[in-house]
Amino acid sequence: MDYYQKTYQRWYNLFSKVYDPFMRLFCFLFNGGFGGKQRFHELIIKWIDPQPGDKIIDICCGTATLVMMLYEKQNGIGEITGIEISFAQLRIARKKQKHERPFIIQGDARYAPFADNYFNKSVICGALHEMPQEVRSTVLSEAYRITMPGGKITILEHNKPNKKWKAWLFDLMERVNPEYATYKSLLKSGLINEIEQANFKIIKTDTIFREFFQIVLAKK
Ligand SMILES: C[S@@+](CC[C@H](N)C(=O)[O-])C[C@H]1O[C@@H](n2cnc3c(N)ncnc32)[C@H](O)[C@@H]1O
Repeated sequence: MDYYQKTYQRWYNLFSKVYDPFMRLFCFLFNGGFGGKQRFHELIIKWIDPQPGDKIIDICCGTATLVMMLYEKQNGIGEITGIEISFAQLRIARKKQKHERPFIIQGDARYAPFADNYFNKSVICGALHEMPQEVRSTVLSEAYRITMPGGKITILEHNKPNKKWKAWLFDLMERVNPEYATYKSLLKSGLINEIEQANFKIIKTDTIFREFFQIVLAKK
C-alpha cells in the first residue's frame, strides 16, 4: 500500500461512519429540505442518462448510493459496476446490496481492473478534489481507457461559489479533507482543463446545487 492508499484507508475508516448522514444533512440544508439527497442524485442521473443495456462504471463509488439508484433505474438490463478503494466505505455499500448485482469491487481507480473500452458510460462523483494532481491525472487516464470510443463520462466536482459567504463556507468544509492542498490544486489547474488533458471532449457543463458543485459531461 502506498502513502496515498494508506491515507485514504485511514481517513475513510473514520469518515465512512458519518458519510451518508453527513450527505443527508448537507443536502437537507442546501438542497431544499427533506429528500434533498435523493434529488441531488436524481439530477446527476439525468446527466448520466442511463439506458437499458448500458455498461456503466461509477469510479470511486463511495457508499454506492448512486450505483444502487442507477441499477434500479436500469431495471437489471445492462451492467452497473462501482469501484472503491476504502474497505470501510465498501462495508456500508455492501449493506445496501440485496443481490450479487450491481457489482461493487474493491480497487484503486488508478489501476482499474477492466478491459480497454469496456464501459459506454462512466461517472466520477465528488472524488477528484481529494486526490493529489498526479493521482487525478492517472484516474482520469484510466477512465478514458476503460470508456469506449463515443462513450460518455459524467464528472461531478466541488465548485467554489461566487457569493462570498458561500465561498467561505465551502472553503471551511474543504479543510476537513485529508489533504486540503489537493482541492486547492484542482481549483488552480481547473477541472475542465484536467478532463481535456485526459483527452475527453467536453459536451456541456453547469453548476448545480447553489453553485456548490460543477457537473461536466464529456465524450471519448
Ligand atoms: C467524497 S467520496 C465520494 C463517493 C461517491 N462517489 C459519492 O458521490 O458519494 C470520494 C470517494 O473516493 C474514494 N477514492 C479515492 N481515491 C480512490 C481511488 N484511487 N480508487 C478508488 N476509490 C477512491 C474514496 O475512498 C471515497 O469513498
